[in-house]
Amino acid sequence: MKTLYLKEQDTNSIKTAAEILKNGGLVAIPTETVYGLAANALDGDAVKKIFIAKGRPQDNPLIVHVSSLSEIEPLVESVDPRVYALAEKYWPGPLTVIMKKSALIPDEVSAGLETVAIRMPSHDGARKIISASGLPLAAPSANASGKPSPTKASHVIEDLDGKIDAVVDGGECSVGVESTVVTLVTTPPTLLRPGGITPEQLEDVLGSIQISPAVFEKLREGEKAESPGMKYKHYAPSAQVTIVKGSFENYKKFVLAQKGTVCAVCFEGEGKNFEKYIEYGKENDDISQAHHIFDALREVDAMGCESAFVRCPLSSGVGLAVYNRLLRSAAFRVIDLEFSIPVIGLTGQTGSGKTTVADILKNKGYHIVDTDILARKAVENPEVIALLTKRFGVDIINDGILDRRELARRAFASKDGTAALSAITHPEITRLAVEEIHTAEKCGAKAAVIDAALLFDSPLVAICEKNISVIADEKLRLERIMNRDSLSEKDALLRMGAQPPAEYYTEKADIIIDNNGLDLNGQLADF
Ligand code: TXA
Ligand code: MG
Repeated sequence: MKTLYLKEQDTNSIKTAAEILKNGGLVAIPTETVYGLAANALDGDAVKKIFIAKGRPQDNPLIVHVSSLSEIEPLVESVDPRVYALAEKYWPGPLTVIMKKSALIPDEVSAGLETVAIRMPSHDGARKIISASGLPLAAPSANASGKPSPTKASHVIEDLDGKIDAVVDGGECSVGVESTVVTLVTTPPTLLRPGGITPEQLEDVLGSIQISPAVFEKLREGEKAESPGMKYKHYAPSAQVTIVKGSFENYKKFVLAQKGTVCAVCFEGEGKNFEKYIEYGKENDDISQAHHIFDALREVDAMGCESAFVRCPLSSGVGLAVYNRLLRSAAFRVIDLEFSIPVIGLTGQTGSGKTTVADILKNKGYHIVDTDILARKAVENPEVIALLTKRFGVDIINDGILDRRELARRAFASKDGTAALSAITHPEITRLAVEEIHTAEKCGAKAAVIDAALLFDSPLVAICEKNISVIADEKLRLERIMNRDSLSEKDALLRMGAQPPAEYYTEKADIIIDNNGLDLNGQLADF
């Protein structure tokens, strides 16, 4: 199918779009929030095409768009009086209200639910197209399912060219995130999705409302979504996204320590500190962050980045919507870099006695973060597994279980493979480490110690205020490894040879602990 490109201002474009809609076709239309993929909401067959074009799960209902209040009455069981009060203040605008549906709404729109979502957009183009067609229009965001929502006509074309009848270019969407979704079917009303209208604005009209837990949390397995669209991964570029909380100083140090092709998604004026970056709005301005966020997420892929680290947006006002969308694009990976206890790195060659040092520090009330354990845990995360199978082949999974040996064999066979394995696993290992430190903090640990064999190659080095290297002579280490792991001299030497040289550990360390028989407790007396 050839997708017709129409410019909103051109004569006849509104009429052409309306004709296509009346004939059961699909048209991407501009709205003030994001572009919508519209079809006649009263025609189940037309609506079915939306799901096919987007690759959208069948169980996710659509919003019906109207251009005046009188159009709502036939679509619902009865018009809840609170709708008039909401409309008075916020319609036309970025608000969607859920009510009990009438028999006129086909199952394809409501995805089998008893309710229907209704919105009156304020964008001039959207309003003209609805009026000209004389129809209520069912329209989800006009992106391929799972991708960031489109805020420019070019985004729609990127995802849906050749799959829909037409796109009407009405310029950049002013709000930039989707509408607020509130249901009036529950008591009190429930905010299902934050958006351009804030919870405070809703409460001004509705009194107290509740916020669905799905706004902030991942649904647990088997849990039913109040709003089916709020499921696990959404709004996501191909790159792995991580939200980073904390000061710009900490963010900068952390991002600069990352490996692979990394994109810093930061605020205006901050980008110059990074090789690859995208700025999305101003630091203390939720409106500008909302306006840019989806375009920024798309740009991450256009730049070919493997991972993106996003400065945490404001989480109040419209910022709540930005944070909610980012949480989903990051599969809920948030890293908070502000610690209230010191974080210390600990490293050393095999056989140097790193573990003995860790044990002494543990006895002094330090929490030890064992990164070997975290590396194993990281590859249990479904998102990490998906990326690993994409890179190294689906057959690294056997009977549903990751074959770690086979993964290691494939990854370590080449430099590229090794780098890819790190790029895929490091964000999750880092998240787990940071989470463990915050838990230790709450449990009263005096400090946290990150125990990592290759600390100086890990992005975790960026969160350590000091680093300790444990060293010991080669002869001693050889003896220790042979005894500890019952290895032959040859095998022990092989293992030692695979590690970086002694200078790697001494050059970058702030503190060197000599474990050649000297008193360890004495050397650690200051801790
Ligand atoms: O700003 C917007 O709302 C944009 C523009 C195009 O209007 N539309 C949009 O639609 O974001 P969509 O389909 O991407 O998101 C609609 C959300 C989904 O999370 C869906 O599950 C929820 O609204 N929804 C729709 N009908 C519902 C219903 N009856 N009950 C609960 N949730 C519903
Ligand atoms: Mg959507």
